[in-house]
Amino acid sequence: MPIFDTHAHYDDEVFDEDRDEILASLKRSNIEKVVDIGASLSSCRRVKELADKYKFIYAAFGVHPEEVMDLKESDMDWLKLQCRHKKCVAVGEIGLDYHYDDIPKEVQKKWFERQLELAREVKKPVVIHSREAAEDTLEILKAYHAEDVGGVMHCFSYTKEIAREVLKMGFYIGIGGVITFKNARKIKEAVAYAPIESIVLETDCPYLAPEPYRGSRNTSLNLPYIVKAVAEIKDMHPDAVIGITWRNAHKLFGLKE
Ligand code: NI
Repeated sequence: MPIFDTHAHYDDEVFDEDRDEILASLKRSNIEKVVDIGASLSSCRRVKELADKYKFIYAAFGVHPEEVMDLKESDMDWLKLQCRHKKCVAVGEIGLDYHYDDIPKEVQKKWFERQLELAREVKKPVVIHSREAAEDTLEILKAYHAEDVGGVMHCFSYTKEIAREVLKMGFYIGIGGVITFKNARKIKEAVAYAPIESIVLETDCPYLAPEPYRGSRNTSLNLPYIVKAVAEIKDMHPDAVIGITWRNAHKLFGLKE
């Protein structure tokens, strides 16, 4: 079975030198589908170009909580238009990030809520970025009945108690390179707790390269390290992890296998 990378940023400028080369090599390494995720209005433009150019790349359009400061309501009209693209499979990444305090929480919440409304309007699932903001994220997801559109909490970094709440809404949890880090006890517990049917694989590349490449530029070619870590925690064969998460990703994004 091929592997599905549910969260990548190949539009990032760190891939400018060898993007085509890397993308061309994915299929040989069994990586057959990738969702490239928008994080700002300008990155959404580049995501669209990649989805137009490569058959195996799908698009998510949205504005990351650290990029919302200068958003205007008219930007939502533009974003909505992008979401009509035939290869758009989700609205994202959207959410809350309280790690740095440069963007006021109220501003983050406003645009998170507005983009949840947008997802409902265009009937697409959401890709959620949530860091050090579990309670507010859950509260808003519940208030906006995000279970109606579904989605994934990407780079899941919370406890199994939070995982339980997320899974109750029918959401998936996205697992990437962090699962291979030594200090990832909490996330390993969450992965042990979550049924494999609720897990999707991701890289978040160029960020969060797994061990043994921690700290270097990440690509989807590193997915086997994440598969191996999940397989060990779940006591499953790596091929089973690949096969089930492949199916999960198609269900999440409403794609045919
Ligand atoms: Ni991301």
